[in-house]
Amino acid sequence: MPLAAGGGDTRRPYFETLFVTGAPTASFPQIAQELRRLRRAEDPMIYEPVLVGSFEDAMMGIIMNGKVEAVVIYDGIPVPSQHDIPLLRDFLAVHHQLDTSSLAPRDVGVTLARLIKRVRPELDIYLLTDREVEKLAGDPAASMIRRVFYEVEELTEVHLNILEGVGDRLSSPHFDNLKKYAARPIATFHALPIARGKSIMKSNWIRDMGEFYGQNLFLAESSSTAGGLDSMLEPTGNIKVAQEKFARAVGADHVFFVTNGTSTSNKMVYQAVTAPGDIVIADRNCHKSHHYGMVLSGAQPLYVEAFPMTEYSMYGAVPLRTIKQALLNLKAEGRLGRVKMVTLTNCTFDGHVYNTRRVMEECLAIKPDLIFLWDEAWFGFARWSPFLRPRTGLGAAAALEEWRASPAALAAWKAQAAELGEELDPKDGRLLDRRLVPDPRKIRIRVYETDSVHKSMSALRQGSIVAVRDEDYSHHISAFREAVFIHASTSPNAQIIASLDVARRQMELEGYELVMRSTEIALAIRRAVAEHPIISKYFRVLGADAMIPAEFRASGFRDFLTPGSNWLTAVKAMQEDEFFLDPTRMTLVCGSAGYDGTSFKNLLAAKYNVQLNKTSRNSVLLQSNINNTRSDVALLIKVLLEVSQQIEAELAEGGESARAAFAARVKSLMEDVPDLPNFSRFHDGYREDPGSVTLEGDMRGAFFAAYEEDDCEYLPLMSPKIDERLKSGPELVSANFVIPYPPGFPIMVPGQVIASDTIDFMRKLDVKEIHGYNNTRGLKLIKLSAIPRAQSGGKSMPARDKAKEPDSERRSASTAQSKGKSGAKR
Ligand SMILES: Cc1ncc(COP(=O)(O)O)c(C=O)c1O
Repeated sequence: MPLAAGGGDTRRPYFETLFVTGAPTASFPQIAQELRRLRRAEDPMIYEPVLVGSFEDAMMGIIMNGKVEAVVIYDGIPVPSQHDIPLLRDFLAVHHQLDTSSLAPRDVGVTLARLIKRVRPELDIYLLTDREVEKLAGDPAASMIRRVFYEVEELTEVHLNILEGVGDRLSSPHFDNLKKYAARPIATFHALPIARGKSIMKSNWIRDMGEFYGQNLFLAESSSTAGGLDSMLEPTGNIKVAQEKFARAVGADHVFFVTNGTSTSNKMVYQAVTAPGDIVIADRNCHKSHHYGMVLSGAQPLYVEAFPMTEYSMYGAVPLRTIKQALLNLKAEGRLGRVKMVTLTNCTFDGHVYNTRRVMEECLAIKPDLIFLWDEAWFGFARWSPFLRPRTGLGAAAALEEWRASPAALAAWKAQAAELGEELDPKDGRLLDRRLVPDPRKIRIRVYETDSVHKSMSALRQGSIVAVRDEDYSHHISAFREAVFIHASTSPNAQIIASLDVARRQMELEGYELVMRSTEIALAIRRAVAEHPIISKYFRVLGADAMIPAEFRASGFRDFLTPGSNWLTAVKAMQEDEFFLDPTRMTLVCGSAGYDGTSFKNLLAAKYNVQLNKTSRNSVLLQSNINNTRSDVALLIKVLLEVSQQIEAELAEGGESARAAFAARVKSLMEDVPDLPNFSRFHDGYREDPGSVTLEGDMRGAFFAAYEEDDCEYLPLMSPKIDERLKSGPELVSANFVIPYPPGFPIMVPGQVIASDTIDFMRKLDVKEIHGYNNTRGLKLIKLSAIPRAQSGGKSMPARDKAKEPDSERRSASTAQSKGKSGAKR
């Protein structure tokens, strides 16, 4: 039990403070006792000192003990631990390029502080020294130290600072204010009758709602922004401070609270930073909010394809080579200047994590002012994992900034320039195969990250943030303000805002421990499924080797459970590999148990009270998060065992015929899988240069063309007319987005020419939910007569073949059609 004193109103939060001291170990109990004497009755929190005697033990302390919130380092501590800890030494050497044996005594304290911040940036660090404190306090290299004290003099001050530092993280300005507001006797003469809850609590008919949710929910409701409450649309008070604290917590310059999910956060970014005609390089498989964001802003998507995982009917992530190729093609065709943004999903629904830093570095080498939108809807928690943080958009932005300032950066770029030239030649085939270095003097670090706080932290549903680390943000301030006005409700929910504030508070105080636990739980599930003699006959959780092709795992990492794997091999993979698998996202194959994903998900929900994430044809996705406990793991394993035993019993009872039927079903689920269709192309009428190699198009023009019902036609999916038109034209042009669930990506977007592989895929899909497909009338198509400058017959050469034509021919053929903007109907 934590040592928190008292209960109820007098409960004081408890934490631990690590004291790193060179004093003899035998004196630790006495020092701890002296430190405890600093406690005062009026202290708002209580902490226990934990003493360690070396640099290495201090690192172990902050890695292993999630209760540590502050670290006090006495200058001049020894480096080596007396324990045998080879893994830690390797970790420091590999992960932090630090050879502890070569540390100069004067550097030990500051180096320790720097390393602690890399592992747990939220911790407050204090340094006690008998050196010239003034000099140290003014040294930028020691900026991560919260305060420097002249040793012995100031123990009470250290104590008060520890409490103040943790108190700063503990305070949640908006939520704290809302609690105070709820306690005030206030009469409301504005809309929102539920505010104060009188109409509910006094009602004969709906009082149960008040009893169920509790009175505070209504006491804390108001539509007012006056009297101490703040406005989310124009924050100047406690919401502003809450957003600033969130920005600090995630390493951003600005954070915007959003109360309608990351669906809205993404659209806000498109609205704020892109304009009609800009090109955005986007994963075609990304969340629909990106596609809709481009419809709204008029930016033209240049879709890039993720690697397919056909056997599981899902996509992986987009290879960097593909993104570089797209940029180089645009450069070759003279349109690089129009590319505004690259947007990628990190991690993907199924857990593929990008090498964010490498992606940004290499793209910036081709276009130094690119903006990156990292959709981290699922990945907000990663900030609190030292392993995953470098692979977040913001974590990579920080590393990139550090790299840019180092002399090594310019040296690396100069070495590259000597070989490849200062200006990269887009036709130079070497560019795709080597790691490109950007010019550190030219690049702008422009990162936007969107997080569904509600998906991985303790926020109410729809709580989301846009986090900004864009050094040219000043160009977009007013556009961002407009984006907030366009997309945010004028009645934002105060409870969602409060929960964002509290979610940040929790993560800054216990996020490290909670995320570590959710990772442990994921590994426990993976291990239990793999090792159980009966469960493993029918189910398996896919490892990194099954989720990520070997070509993207340069480190040779295979999986968390592979013999010989430990956290060092995982760290190496995280540093080197193009893609890394988020261990907390587990694809459980159920096709081998004869279940398709949807039936299995429904079975578990209806019969066993176990809810899962998404499904594919033959798998379901399990996700562990900060809410899970080992008991949840036990329940899941028990259920999987019960299902497996049921299968065994049915196979034993049913004899040969049951076994043959089971095998046929498994084969159908696991082998007869439809090929995943790639994006084909936009119709020539929606392209400014139909002859260009890159396939961006005016999706917005096509989207609005579909508003005119007279300009559209419908064809049922199974109609032979579809096959005729696929064979001999005229082309089928989609009028809207068609998004089957699962897998959940748009197999058609407005203006897209429908190819036969897309029709085959749709026909084979056995899902009931297909957004954008009209079950009674069929596929909605834009009539060719309604498409701007469409060529009659419409049977133009597929763009992929056009790419093979000699450049000169292609250009002259296309210029005639390419003048002016496409998409007359907007
Ligand atoms: C990658 C991705 N981005 C954005 C969203 C939208 O997030 P929200 O549900 O918070 O609106 C989702 C939702 O599933 C998603 O998977």
